[in-house]
Amino acid sequence: MPIPLPTPTLHTARLRLRPFGDADAHDLFALHSSARVLRYWDSPPWSGRGRAEHFITTCQQMAEEGAGARLAVDRLADGSFLGWCSLSQWNQDYRSASLGYCFDEAAWGHGYATEAARVLLQWAFAAMDLNRIQAETDTRNIASARVLEKLGFVREGTLREDCVVNGEVSDSWVYGLIRREWPPSWEPTLGGAAPSRSRAIGRHPGGFRGGR
Ligand SMILES: CC(C)(COP(=O)(O)OP(=O)(O)OC[C@H]1O[C@@H](n2cnc3c(N)ncnc32)[C@H](O)[C@@H]1OP(=O)(O)O)[C@@H](O)C(=O)NCCC(=O)NCCS
Repeated sequence: MPIPLPTPTLHTARLRLRPFGDADAHDLFALHSSARVLRYWDSPPWSGRGRAEHFITTCQQMAEEGAGARLAVDRLADGSFLGWCSLSQWNQDYRSASLGYCFDEAAWGHGYATEAARVLLQWAFAAMDLNRIQAETDTRNIASARVLEKLGFVREGTLREDCVVNGEVSDSWVYGLIRREWPPSWEPTLGGAAPSRSRAIGRHPGGFRGGR
């Protein structure tokens, strides 16, 4: 019998993370139909609006089944929808889950993804009693790799030729964050530069790239 995991509402200095609702379908479709946003995703951009409605229904199912939490992210200053982040594939025996996120191009480069993921991780380590959080990313996705490294994730390996999207074959990096490593030692200086955990900068990351 699954134990429900109600999706929380979380706040940071600049963001509100909240459960998805039916009214988000328009913004969600705009986000996931962008070829630029989905450049390194593990599936092609959406072409039908029904995908957005299905995504929102899946968020509600995840909460009911206790499979994880997928949260819409709004900017507090103007209430605009920026994107989403999620913890999925929650395995209660292993105390593990997968992190994913997707933000609108207009919101990139302001630290929003890191800020949103950080508060989600804080909540998850407490509410879900996790021990391990995994993330995967296309090895060309420099921004996503950097987000993970700023959060304290360690690059653990490469999944060679992991994805084929529209005939394009790509590799994935696997990242892991263990509870005892959280929060990362540089956490108090949130504005400061996190040390890079990997040296292979120039190529980058998404097991569920993006937490599809
Ligand atoms: C990946 C993504 C979530 C990053 O969002 P964001 O809000 O821009 O992330 P942040 O601003 O918190 O951090 C991005 C970091 O990457 C760095 N970065 C971005 N592009 C870079 C590049 N081409 N080369 C080097 N660093 C780069 C930024 O400088 C920043 O690091 P810094 O704080 O040390 O300067 C966003 O680009 C996105 O949603 N992309 C589309 C969906 C996607 O790929 N999701 C991930 C699937 S695994």
